[in-house]
Amino acid sequence: MKYTLTTDAPEAARVDCLVVGVFEKGTLSPAAQQLDEVSAGAVSALFKAGDLTGKAGQWRMQYGMPGVASARVLLVGCGPQAAFDERRYRQMVTTALGVLADAPVKTALLCIAGLVPTTRDTAWSVREAVVAASASLYRFDQTLSEKAPRPALKRLALQASDEKADALNEALEAGVAIADGTALARDLANLPGNICTPTYLAEQAQAMAKGGKGLKATVLEQEAMAKLGMGALLSVARGSRQPPKLIALEYSGGKKRQKPIVLVGKGLTFDSGGVSIKPAAQMDEMKYDMCGGAAVLGALQAVAALKLPLNVVAVVPASENMPDGDANKPGDVVTSLSGLTIEVLNTDAEGRLILCDALTWAERTYKPELVVDVATLTGACVIALGKHAAGLLGNDQPLVDALLAAGEESGDRAWQLPLWEAYEEQLKSNFADLANVGGREAGTVTAALFLARFMKKQRWAHLDIAGVAWEGGAKKGATGRPVALLTQFLIDRARHG
Ligand code: BES
Ligand code: MN
Ligand code: ZN
Repeated sequence: MKYTLTTDAPEAARVDCLVVGVFEKGTLSPAAQQLDEVSAGAVSALFKAGDLTGKAGQWRMQYGMPGVASARVLLVGCGPQAAFDERRYRQMVTTALGVLADAPVKTALLCIAGLVPTTRDTAWSVREAVVAASASLYRFDQTLSEKAPRPALKRLALQASDEKADALNEALEAGVAIADGTALARDLANLPGNICTPTYLAEQAQAMAKGGKGLKATVLEQEAMAKLGMGALLSVARGSRQPPKLIALEYSGGKKRQKPIVLVGKGLTFDSGGVSIKPAAQMDEMKYDMCGGAAVLGALQAVAALKLPLNVVAVVPASENMPDGDANKPGDVVTSLSGLTIEVLNTDAEGRLILCDALTWAERTYKPELVVDVATLTGACVIALGKHAAGLLGNDQPLVDALLAAGEESGDRAWQLPLWEAYEEQLKSNFADLANVGGREAGTVTAALFLARFMKKQRWAHLDIAGVAWEGGAKKGATGRPVALLTQFLIDRARHG
């Protein structure tokens, strides 16, 4: 798929389909208005006849509109003009691309001039159009023997009439990078646990490093981890036939001396719960327990594509969590790389066990500017925030604020939960420095507090993406979140330091 910018007049554009927005009550976007004028009222006639109401989500394909070069015009309802906001904007793009994906349309022109939400500018609209379009065109068929035909669409031009071409080109590039990073994360996550193993994830990181984008991959094997003393991570891996991997993918776009930003992503390629085994229903979805790892790799790909002037490292502790004769047992005490001992009261709280060692290793290896970890860490977060917002906790409010802002900007939102010391007593253990579970109350907070114990000297934030990383039910599939949030955060860092 190719995305381009154009300032061509819509009626003159030589494309297979023109896409224009219309509002309720017959209010036309500037492009729709222009088509109405050159066609002697073909658009307003549709409103008069009642065939078009402009309701959000409604659409109508018109053929052979007089005075219009394109064979097709797709009119997309945008709802009441006064209520047209960011969500409606993305919805308009998604609706349009849903129609285009099923049509024999190879080239299309989406007219966004005049459809920019009042809270945003044209650059934002360009970037979000690319991200939303790409998400609608995404298909996962790697594990199907009979592949459905791919959408015919090859080129989508965005008609944005105004201003600074540089800013719009930059926005387009950012959109493509975010879209591609998101698609990479979705692909990795949608692969089943028997294909996407820790070894597979390590190979993918190594393949990315061979791609010539200035990325360097390092993979720590089990023996190296044992030598270092990663007793927490290794205790989880012991229950699996799959060897664990500690993957690091480094991007060096900044000055040599500049401290890196480290993104740590949970790469649990299948979470059965271990001896504290999970119920059978929907257990297949625990192949998505590596979505944090997939997201940090996706973000790194985006950063490399954008050549951001930053040093960034993705660290992915990768393991399975399985029941086995050698697996963690409730009550086992393990010693983490940091030296802190942990009582494993529930073997299903394995994410924090692999993450704590990865966090300590990252801190010691990279002396980071800041660390953000991303993990499908707690079912409690799904209960607290559902699928719309990731849980966000951290020990540095400016960092948390920057992540919140990046989430708002990219529509990949997070919501802060408290990281108060008062909750810490829930992690007390009679037999170790801390327990790996803190009871039923505030499960997302106690999980984050567990990680915070390993990040005492480090600027750090934690994104719990258990609710946002994938969708269940009929639409089952990975979302690629929070690649957009992370990439936006890094773009902002590159801009303002
Ligand atoms: N990967 C799960 C968290 C999860 C569960 C994400 C359901 C999305 C949907 C994690 O490893 C886990 O099992 N957490 C436990 C922690 C508990 C034992 C304290 C949970 O949330 O139940
Ligand atoms: Mn678990
Ligand atoms: Zn898990």
